[in-house]
Amino acid sequence: MKPVKVGLLGLGTVGGGTATVLSRNAEEIARRAGRGIVIDYAAALDTSHATRLGLTRTRLSNNALDVVEDPEIEIIVELIGGYTIARDVVMKAIQSGKHVVTANKALIALHGNEIFAAAQANNVIVAFEAAVAGGIPIIKSLREGLAANHIEWLAGIINGTGNFILSEMREKNRAFDDVLAEAQTLGYAEADPTFDVEGIDAAHKLTILSSIAFGIPLQFEHTYVEGISRVTREDVANAAELGYRIKHLGIARRTGHGIEQRVHPTLVPSQRLMAHVNGVMNAVVVKGDAVGPTLYYGAGAGAEPTASAVVADIVDVVRAMTADPNNRVPHLAFQPSRLADTPILPIDAVETAFYLRMRANDRPGVLADITRILGDRGISIESLIQKDPELVDQDVDIIMLTQRVREGNMNEAVRAIEALDSICGRVTRIRVESLG
Ligand code: HSE
Repeated sequence: MKPVKVGLLGLGTVGGGTATVLSRNAEEIARRAGRGIVIDYAAALDTSHATRLGLTRTRLSNNALDVVEDPEIEIIVELIGGYTIARDVVMKAIQSGKHVVTANKALIALHGNEIFAAAQANNVIVAFEAAVAGGIPIIKSLREGLAANHIEWLAGIINGTGNFILSEMREKNRAFDDVLAEAQTLGYAEADPTFDVEGIDAAHKLTILSSIAFGIPLQFEHTYVEGISRVTREDVANAAELGYRIKHLGIARRTGHGIEQRVHPTLVPSQRLMAHVNGVMNAVVVKGDAVGPTLYYGAGAGAEPTASAVVADIVDVVRAMTADPNNRVPHLAFQPSRLADTPILPIDAVETAFYLRMRANDRPGVLADITRILGDRGISIESLIQKDPELVDQDVDIIMLTQRVREGNMNEAVRAIEALDSICGRVTRIRVESLG
């Protein structure tokens, strides 16, 4: 059988990794796919390093549309990123009857509903394993391996750059900006690194995971997003003193009232495996009713780990190309006509425990005022540390862990505490999850 001709859009970190892996493992991949796979045509703004990537027999262009419109190409691999040009070329590829493999989480999270509907109408596959958690086959696991289960919740460290920054801050006491610059050099960070540090990248990925877990349309606009940019070295040290580590988690949970879909810094008990996922590694825990908790771990970013997922998708597409389109795995795991309209809960309605840090005057009655405000709103304190001031008459830091409380109630309590004369500045709060 003739090899399948692939069109590669983008020769950056992941595009380069994909070319390298496809060429290095060509024999092994062909044994799996049943046919050879060749990058016949590639497009990038700068194609000068194509030879270095081994693309010596590949046609090259600076225009992605040349590749998408080429009749020889059967699979388009979109590794451009973003959602302007990428969206146009993916839609054009689908309309021309070409299958698409993409690592573009932003595109899928924001425009996936429209893209999957077009793919279904045109009998083509859009595969996106590399969009979530780099090299970890989490889409396949959730969509196929756990198909028997009623998924209860999932929680993941799904941004390698953010995890790298938090790990280096904790282990080596390094400054935030310094570690971010290193993540950029290593090719982990997004083109706009605020997507990593403000949680947007993780929110894209969580939106995808939540849809596949619960069979709901993609709803990025309802995902609660908070990044790591306000996590201080002090909070990292306080968390350790209390027996926790701070991780940036994406959490999706089914409750009786709706679905929680949120990304934010989280205190995780230090004995949990998730607390020990460091550097650029990602991990996702999925709790299914039949299987119980399962854990998936691996490199969440980087050229070859992400290429591993891209190439696996290409192999899947090659195998499925001749299959009846009605028997393919649905894009969002559930049949498109059977997606549910379960609401996504606003963050005010979510219940978690909290870590609180505040600076207070060191005088009698201050702690009593704080605990009264919390008590009046039904918030129990689990533990409390008062830091000794370095100088006499200086203000003191008070650190608390609370029990679970509805976020709306905690917001009210924080506003009341901040209004006390004895409290200086804002109260820092970080959610706590036991992951039990
Ligand atoms: N910027 C992303 C990360 C790349 O750091 O996880 C992989 O999606």
